[in-house]
Parts: sequence; C-alpha cells; structure tokens
Amino acid sequence: MKTIDVCLSPELMHLYEVRSRTVVVVDILRATSCMVTALAHGAESITPFAKLEECLNMKSKGYITSGERDGKKVDGFDKGNSPFEYMGDQVHGLKIAFTTTNGTQAIEKSKNAKEVIIGSFLNLSSVVKYLLLGENNVLIVCAGWKGRINLEDTLFAGAVVEKLKDYLGPDCDAPLAARHLYNLAKEDMAQFLNNSSHVKRLNRLNIYRDFEFCLSVDQYKILPRLQNGVFVV
Ligand code: MLT
Repeated sequence: MKTIDVCLSPELMHLYEVRSRTVVVVDILRATSCMVTALAHGAESITPFAKLEECLNMKSKGYITSGERDGKKVDGFDKGNSPFEYMGDQVHGLKIAFTTTNGTQAIEKSKNAKEVIIGSFLNLSSVVKYLLLGENNVLIVCAGWKGRINLEDTLFAGAVVEKLKDYLGPDCDAPLAARHLYNLAKEDMAQFLNNSSHVKRLNRLNIYRDFEFCLSVDQYKILPRLQNGVFVV
C-alpha cells in the first residue's frame, strides 16, 4: 500500500524524505488557491519565488509580478494575492512570477521532491484522483504561517487523507490528526475556521470574500505540476 504523510509546517521539512515522493503544497489562504485560479483561467505559467527581489526582477523579462507580504500587495507588483485578481480573460496567456509570505516558501522547501503539485479546495478532486492513480508515496506540505501550524491547510490535508483512506496508509500520526480535524469541520468549514488566525488577519484587511471562495470545493478540474521550476497545467 502506498503511504501518505502530512508535514504540518515547512519548518518540519527536514524530518521528511521527499526525493521519492509526490509533494502536494497547500496554502489555502491564499497562495495555492490563487495559483489554481490563475491557471484555471488560462494563465500560461506560474514561477514561484521565495525572495521578493527575485520575483520583482522578472518584470523586465515580461512577467506579471504577483503576491503579497503579510497579506498585503507589495509596492511595485502588478497583482496581489486575491483569487479574484486571477479570473477572466485578463489572465489568459500570462506568465506570472509569484511570491508570498508562506506559500512560495513552502514550495521552495519542496523542490527536491520527485514531483511537486499544487493543492487547494478549488481543485480537491483533481488532486485526490492524481494521487490515487500515481505510483509515489505522498507528502502534503502545509504552508502554515511563518513556521507555525494553521487550521485551513491542515483541513485540506485531512480532506485528502480522508478521501484516500482506503488506498493510502498513514505514515505517522499527522495524517490521522488532520483527518480527524477535517471530519469535525467538514459540515461547515467556514464556521470551524472563524476564529483561526489567518481568517482574523484577512478580516482585518477586509478580505472576507477571498476566504469564502478559497473554501469552495472543486471549482476547477486542473492539476498544476512543477516542471523545471515553473507550474503549468
Ligand atoms: C501566504 O503565502 O502566506 C498567503 O497566501 C498569505 C495571504 O493570504 O496573502
């Protein structure tokens, strides 16, 4: 039986062997939800950067510069980190350079994996199907917040573990914990997350509608995969 594990924070990545695994990076609020939205709306590619300056430099190479720090759009960038900025015809064909506080840091730490894919509730079933059919053991890497664990990424990990429970065995207790949490929350995830730290942070920035959208399941049937450092569908 293939196995599935969950890394609850990128700070714990040193505990996991990734060279033989498919890694699913998840940052529900909001980095990976934005990436999935952009690629579903026809963006050509997303190049993730851990460092702001490296991302900004891509502007001169014809890229759209996107992302945030502490939830806010960065001065000089073309776009921020709301999924609503990545919808419609305006996104079609764009090459996007992306950097975020946690999501692209988690991607950076996952780069040695056998393969890296992007997960969000927006493409949950596509992720589950891909992992089910794939040959590799799986590690879900939760982006968290500045090294700390967050609830929304853990819920996503739990949803994947729950849906694959008859096919992929848990490697340690983190997938079990995530699955229990998801089963507690699944009837009303928005309510469950209401007091969580990043939801409060987004509320302070008046971005409640992003939160609601990022929890909507299976809006898109795409699976972004990292190829030569670039996410494409
Ligand atoms: C991140 O990568 O930390 C997030 O996407 C933050 C945000 O909500 O903008």
